[in-house]
Amino acid sequence: MTTNRQQEGSPQQTLGWSPALVDRTARRTAQKEAAFLLPYLKPGMRLLDCGCGPGTITIGLAEAVAPGEATGIDIGAQQIELARANAAQSDTANVRFQVADVLKLPFEDNFFDVVYANTLIMYFIDKAPALKEMRRVLRPGGLIGIRDLGTNGDVVWPPDGPLERTIALYLKGFHYRGAWDPSNGQGNRGQLLRAGFVRCQASADCEASGTPESLALVAEVWKMRVLASNLWVEQGWIDRAGQERLAQDIGEWAKRPDAFHSRLFCSAIGWKEG
Ligand SMILES: C[S@@+](CC[C@H](N)C(=O)[O-])C[C@H]1O[C@@H](n2cnc3c(N)ncnc32)[C@H](O)[C@@H]1O
Repeated sequence: MTTNRQQEGSPQQTLGWSPALVDRTARRTAQKEAAFLLPYLKPGMRLLDCGCGPGTITIGLAEAVAPGEATGIDIGAQQIELARANAAQSDTANVRFQVADVLKLPFEDNFFDVVYANTLIMYFIDKAPALKEMRRVLRPGGLIGIRDLGTNGDVVWPPDGPLERTIALYLKGFHYRGAWDPSNGQGNRGQLLRAGFVRCQASADCEASGTPESLALVAEVWKMRVLASNLWVEQGWIDRAGQERLAQDIGEWAKRPDAFHSRLFCSAIGWKEG
């Protein structure tokens, strides 16, 4: 799944995915993850979800366009299997899934009324080829919607604690490597404009964690990222003992009764002129 325009390693590896995080991803919904798009969807539309992963969002999108059809594509065959299993468990008949690369979509020009991607475009250092391909399969007058992380907009309480320090190191690592940047969702409106879409609008939403369970998951994800980050040690940004301490401090922070974390997601919509 790695392309020369994506960071080495799968998004799962790059982001430090744990079983709990995979589970959280499988609970994503169109109501939340595509809230910015839903007002524009109409019955009968033909919709494409690129990088659909486990397909839970696609299934919700299919319900919004029924009796139109929603198609989810993903480069990962396992993701597509999972998506098909999730669809089989739902009552949604107008959804289908297939393995495909967003850089080479197996659809004719102008085929879809809507194309969508949640947390896919951010992985491409050069986003133009993916957006160009999504634009190609979109009919004139059709709608695109993309949503990605804006990690440098994350909010943590209390401030200046171990998680904020970790996020700063995490982003520093991406910038050092010249890799894709998990803050780049903030540029999504500009990306759509540069790809030739018109009437582009941006919006944002957040995923807030303020319960012991949700904070435990946040801590698990970030602790794993801290402990896996050899680069930080190689560059002298932190030593091994400091790394261990930071991971421990994140665990302690998450148990605080006043702890809070909010993750920023940035969305943009636009239309293909026509
Ligand atoms: C972070 S996951 C998001 C999954 C889904 N959109 C969601 O939000 O639940 C990114 C997905 O993009 C897929 N992906 C990565 N590169 C791709 C490519 N070139 N073409 C299609 N899918 C790709 C991955 O396999 C993964 O399932």
